[in-house]
Amino acid sequence: MNDKTISGFSKLSKSKKIDWIINTYLPKQEDAKKILERYWNSDEKLQQLHDEFIENTISNYYLPLGVAPNFLINNNMYAIPMAIEESSVVAAASKAAKFWLDRGGFKTSVISTTKIGQVHFMYQGDKTHLKTYFNNIKPQLLNAVKPLSKNMEKRGGGILDIELRDKTDDIPNYFQLHVSFETADAMGANFINSCLEQFAKTFKTEALNFEQFTAEEQQIEIVMSILSNYVPDCLVRAEVSCKVEELTENKTISAQEFANKFIQAVTIAEIEPFRAVTHNKGIMNGIDAVVLATGNDFRAVEAGVHAYASRNGSYSSLSHAKIENGIFTFWMEIPLALGTVGGLTNLHPLVKLALEMLGKPSAKELMQIIAVAGLAQNFAALRSLTTTGIQEGHMKMHLMNILNQFEANSEEKITLVNHFKTHAVSHSAVVEALEKLRQ
Ligand code: MEV
Repeated sequence: MNDKTISGFSKLSKSKKIDWIINTYLPKQEDAKKILERYWNSDEKLQQLHDEFIENTISNYYLPLGVAPNFLINNNMYAIPMAIEESSVVAAASKAAKFWLDRGGFKTSVISTTKIGQVHFMYQGDKTHLKTYFNNIKPQLLNAVKPLSKNMEKRGGGILDIELRDKTDDIPNYFQLHVSFETADAMGANFINSCLEQFAKTFKTEALNFEQFTAEEQQIEIVMSILSNYVPDCLVRAEVSCKVEELTENKTISAQEFANKFIQAVTIAEIEPFRAVTHNKGIMNGIDAVVLATGNDFRAVEAGVHAYASRNGSYSSLSHAKIENGIFTFWMEIPLALGTVGGLTNLHPLVKLALEMLGKPSAKELMQIIAVAGLAQNFAALRSLTTTGIQEGHMKMHLMNILNQFEANSEEKITLVNHFKTHAVSHSAVVEALEKLRQ
């Protein structure tokens, strides 16, 4: 223990927590309390709701919620809500949406919606005894979770299958109950984990009554029961295509040249992990922003998507592009485990609004919308990278951040935004222009 540790912190009132944090870690920061309080909501009920999302809340952390309009997806129009701090993301999505709006829009389909959970356990003994036990106990396992799965079944979900998997080649005595689930419009984490914990309990206790087991074999040791965020069978596809000659609006490069360069850029990301990670990061700029705005779990999505990007043994591009018979096609298949009911979706007022903006989508519809946001973002990034370079657009969007950093007033902002329409933006150029204006 030293003077920077505390026990019972979670039991202190919010104001005592703040006092302790400031006294202990921010003693020189005079404004600390004011800064924290400035982000509290004056609507007490709303503030309490946010306070109770997690433990030890001291304030709210704002991210901008933007909207990218003009998305045509399977002939329906969408304005896509995006929660993100990176300046150029919403602008890039909007630009890509507009570009493809004039070329038939995005086409999407859900390929599969299966989710996975596992009970990891240790068993020592004759493997055929374990197999017989598993086959005998399977109906009882399914029965034991009926109280949990009844509601899910009403909504079209439930348990699809339970397999016994032998992993003893990797770890001695290690086996799994590998369970597949359909969770309909829920992301399903709680449902899956509750079912798995019940499977584990029944599996362990009933082993004690299984006559074919020896005394040692009866002692099944459960290690853990948890869903997997790797969901390669919860897949969605998004695609855009048009004639090659329709590809360009940019006079400096021909449509064919642009298509070729674009495909080269994608091919590089397919074979070069250093590039693939950045390429896919651009895709996740779009995906995470909508995942967050719709109250979904972006860590789960991130983990699952990147695992999928390495499924063939080397980290690779999630998107692909080709030209066939004069048609340019750009597409992506990605795993997305999402929910439009449960979790934050019914709790956070902005999440509710975001889902309403999207027409209260089912989880399958949301998978398609979010895949499109990723593909659009990737298209916008590759388009800039292979033509003007990324910094031109990026720095234009970053201009406001630099102006805010130097506390430019509204008049200065208008003047300098105008000025930088025709001048290259760099940190030093903005500072120089601002200083000149202020002289
Ligand atoms: C920046 O957030 C994302 C990009 O680096 C993506 C890419 O390089 O494809 C522009």
